[in-house]
Amino acid sequence: VDAMKGLILSGGKGTRLYPITYTSAKQLVPIANKPVLFRVIEAIRDAGITDIGIVVGDTAPEIQAAVGDGSRWGVRVQYIRQEAPLGLAHAVKISQGYLGDERFVMFLGDNVIQGGISRLISQFAASDWNCQIVLKEVAEPQHYGVAELDGDGRILRLVEKPREPRSNLALVGIYMFDHHVFEAVNAIRPSWRGELEITDAIQYLVDHGYRVYPYIHKGWWIDTGKPGDMLAANSLVLDEMEHRIEGFVDADSHIEGKVTVEKGAQVINSVIRGPAIIGEASRIVNSYIGPFTSIYHHVVIESSEIEHCIVLENSRLIDLPARLEDSLIGRNVEIVRSPIKPKAYKMTLGDNSRVGLL
Ligand code: TTP
Repeated sequence: VDAMKGLILSGGKGTRLYPITYTSAKQLVPIANKPVLFRVIEAIRDAGITDIGIVVGDTAPEIQAAVGDGSRWGVRVQYIRQEAPLGLAHAVKISQGYLGDERFVMFLGDNVIQGGISRLISQFAASDWNCQIVLKEVAEPQHYGVAELDGDGRILRLVEKPREPRSNLALVGIYMFDHHVFEAVNAIRPSWRGELEITDAIQYLVDHGYRVYPYIHKGWWIDTGKPGDMLAANSLVLDEMEHRIEGFVDADSHIEGKVTVEKGAQVINSVIRGPAIIGEASRIVNSYIGPFTSIYHHVVIESSEIEHCIVLENSRLIDLPARLEDSLIGRNVEIVRSPIKPKAYKMTLGDNSRVGLL
C-alpha cells in the first residue's frame, strides 16, 4: 500500500486486567503464545504497510524492549510518547508530526481480529473517503460505541453505549483516516471522563461534511480488555492457527487434535487434548492439558489437570487437588500442594487477584 502508515495505540493503564497489568503492558499478554501487540503488527504488515508508529505510555520501556525497531517483521517502528492516557483522539493528536499528510490506519494494540485487515486497507486506499471505520454486528449494542448509517450507507452518527441503540453495528478498534482528522482532534473538547474521544472526532468529520464510511467486518473481533476476553480470544486463535510438534513427546503421552509443542518443551506421561499450545522449554509431567489452553515458556505443570486457561512464563503448577479451569495465571506464579501442617490454603496474592475455591 502506497504511502499509508500504521498507528498502534499501546499506552493506557489496563486497569481491567489487574493484577496482570501491574507489572506488564496488557498489549504484551500472549494469545496462543504470541503477544496481542505482535499480532497487530503482523496484521498491519500483511496489509502492505511498512511504517508503523506505536503510541506508548508508562509501559514504554517494556514495549520497546519487546518490539524494537520492527526489523524482525520487516517494518520500521517509531515510538510516540503519550504523557498520560488522555484518550484515543489525544493519541492521534500527538502523532501528527509522525503521520504528516499521509493516510493511516489506527489499530488498538489490545484488539484481535479474524482474517487480518488487508481488504479494508485496500478499500480505503482506493477510495476518496476521508475516514473509514470498522463496524461489526453485535447482539448487545448498548455495551459498545454504536454507528447509525443513512440510506446511502454513510455514517450519520456515533453514540457511545446508547440506552436505545439505533443499529446493531458496534465500532471495532480499527479506524482509517486522512489528514483532516487533525482538524477534528484539535477542535473537540474532552468528554465527561476527561478524555479526547475518537467518536467525537469522527462525529466532527461527519458534521463538517467529510466522507465517513463503514467497513462491516464479518469475522470475529475481540477487545481483550478483561480476563474473560483474553480467554475467548485465546480459544479462537488456538482453534484457527496452524499447529506443529517441535518439542519432545514421550511414548507414554497422548496428543489429540490441534496441538503445538514448541521447541525445547517436554511432554512426559501426559494427555494433551487440543486446541492447545505448550511453550518453549516448558515441562508437562503426569498431567492433563485440556482444550483451549495456552502454556507460555518455561512453565512446569506436574500431576495436575488444567483446561481453558492461559499460563504465563516461569509459573509452576504442581499436584493441584482439582482441575484448574477458566483461569489466567500470571508470570512466576507458583501453585503447589503444600505438605506443611496445619492443612490450610496458603497464598501470596497481588492486589485485585481473584481466586475461586472448591
Ligand atoms: P482502553 O482499553 O480504552 O484503555 P486502557 O488500556 O487504559 O484499559 P482499562 O480501561 O482497562 O484501564 O484502551 C484501548 C487501547 O488504546 C489500549 O491498547 C490502550 C490504548 N490507549 C492509548 O494508547 N492511549 C490512550 O489515551 C488510551 C485511552 C488508550
